[in-house]
Amino acid sequence: MSISFDPRNLLATMVGEEHGLTAAEIEDNQPTALAALASFRQLWQQGLYGFPDLPANQKLIREIDAMARKFAGSYDTVCVVGIGGSALGCWALDCALRGPHPVQGQHSAKHPRVVILDNVDPDFIEHALDSMSPKKTLVVVIAKSGSTAETMSSFLVVRQWLLDALGKKAAARIIAITSEGRGDLKVLASRESYTTFHIPENVGGRFSVLSAVGLVPAALAGINIKKLCRGAAAMTEACWSDDLDTNIALSAALHHWLIWTRKHKSIQVAFPYSNFLWGAAFWFRQLWAESLGKARDRSGATVHVGQTPVAALGTTDQHSQVQLYMEGPNDKVFSFWTVNKPSHTVKIPKARLGLDGFDYLGGQTMSKLLDAERRATEAALASSSRPNCTFTLDRVDEEHLGAFLQMMEFETAFLGELLNINAFDQEGVELGKKFTYALMGRAGWDEFKERFDDYEKKRA
Ligand code: PA5
Repeated sequence: MSISFDPRNLLATMVGEEHGLTAAEIEDNQPTALAALASFRQLWQQGLYGFPDLPANQKLIREIDAMARKFAGSYDTVCVVGIGGSALGCWALDCALRGPHPVQGQHSAKHPRVVILDNVDPDFIEHALDSMSPKKTLVVVIAKSGSTAETMSSFLVVRQWLLDALGKKAAARIIAITSEGRGDLKVLASRESYTTFHIPENVGGRFSVLSAVGLVPAALAGINIKKLCRGAAAMTEACWSDDLDTNIALSAALHHWLIWTRKHKSIQVAFPYSNFLWGAAFWFRQLWAESLGKARDRSGATVHVGQTPVAALGTTDQHSQVQLYMEGPNDKVFSFWTVNKPSHTVKIPKARLGLDGFDYLGGQTMSKLLDAERRATEAALASSSRPNCTFTLDRVDEEHLGAFLQMMEFETAFLGELLNINAFDQEGVELGKKFTYALMGRAGWDEFKERFDDYEKKRA
């Protein structure tokens, strides 16, 4: 497994002192980065945060593999019902390892289709249901809280769809993933005897991809979860290292923190040059936004800190976003994600058309072109004083993906320490949820109905 981080285009020597980091700035702040590592290690040792432990949970991996073997051959679709951290990890894995929609590898008994219901758009739900057969679908409902309105409502629709077709046998086709000791989903799962897996209390939604949340749908889709966790476990070990050459999560955190806070780059563009990593870019967006966008620091002081994550796809978005990135406000840092060895070699045919726009390409490969386009974009941005860095995965397979996702989780956790914020809560999404409960008539939320009515009055 090999993943590297290249920060050279973040340096002042490449993009100038106003926008880039000097060697002294980086060196002077290394002790701060090591202190962030130490303080996160302490929080982990106290049991507060559990994501570093997930890849080592061999017992869970065996249980999930056994469950997948039990269901094997009985379904052609895995319908995941969840949202946010309970859906995006599954999409990142399916997209990277089974291919981006709609050009996935052929669906088969070994590699069934994954349909993710992560929105309550009625047209989307109806189309999704129309595309699946209840007799050939396994439903995986995921909600840590056990009460998220979007997931509960979609699950009620899907459960009824199963009940209408299968009657009493419906429950045997449902797998629930939720907290062990709380939530209405847990109550329903026990009452109706669903196959159930638990999410550890100290693992937050956006850090849960290597818990049952990501591993159950992945195993059901035929992804090798042992290898996924093996890569993540190797990365975990590297992420506890005090050596910044070994610990790329800490090195990336230090560079990103400095460029963000000292050079005022309030936006980070995650720029994969791989359609297979497109799902991971959306997973990253949530991880970065919810973890690092905070009103208060740990002392309670108001800080309103945050760096807006944006996902862009290379080369596609060179023809959509790069004009802005080159000439618009210099408020962004770009993180390119590249793959050394794509699984396929696509040779561009030598058509010898006597037309220059075609002929120079003939005989070369698509991977050479993709690589040239990325390097050209990096160089162009650097020459316009736009700082950028590159993560390189040797290939996209289970081990690299597990390692890459784990690396980003560690980087996010280290950034939380560097910014002195709690990267693991999400108070900011609560008020909207409470207003939704009030608007939908949930018992006990009258206070929020009154607050919402006041807001409507003001608008009127
Ligand atoms: O990262 C988080 O904690 C959130 O994004 C949650 O994953 C999201 O709100 C869904 O929560 P739940 O799993 O309780 O339905």
